[in-house]
Amino acid sequence: MLSEQIKKTINGIRHQFPTEQALLLPLLSEIQEEQGWVSLESMKSAGEFLNLPVSKVREVASFYTMYKLEPQGKVDVQICTNISCWLNGSDKLVECAEKKLGIHSGETTADKKFTLSQVECLASCGTAPVVQMNQDYYENIDAPKLLELLEQASKDLDAGKEVGKSTQRPGVWP
Ligand code: FES
Repeated sequence: MLSEQIKKTINGIRHQFPTEQALLLPLLSEIQEEQGWVSLESMKSAGEFLNLPVSKVREVASFYTMYKLEPQGKVDVQICTNISCWLNGSDKLVECAEKKLGIHSGETTADKKFTLSQVECLASCGTAPVVQMNQDYYENIDAPKLLELLEQASKDLDAGKEVGKSTQRPGVWP
């Protein structure tokens, strides 16, 4: 079931979008922002809200790696392993993060602090390798810097601080 806040947000921007289907991306983003991931139940609610079949919602949600279809850790660590980042050592970053966190890519730590994933191009190839933690980007990253970021994020979580939220979400809707 969609929250009243999400419905209000989407209804407020409806006039800017040519079709109901075009509203699906902002709707999925709002769901993820509120719930941390996009469940099948949420996809059904999104389909009902936009008069779209759930198969269409699922197709879109599963196409973009930015939509998480499983519960996530508090910090979503995404390492770009596309060509520019790979040529600049992102495979070493993956190894480093897996060792540090004690998990493999695609997994969440037992304490639910971190989820680690490998993603396609994060659109900052000129500053490869790139890592995204929640909404924040870190460019020209090497293993020592990544370890530092992970340690700081863990400390911040322990202190009750938000991690990776210093960057505004894309301004596709007001
Ligand atoms: S290949 Fe990594 S940001 Fe483009």
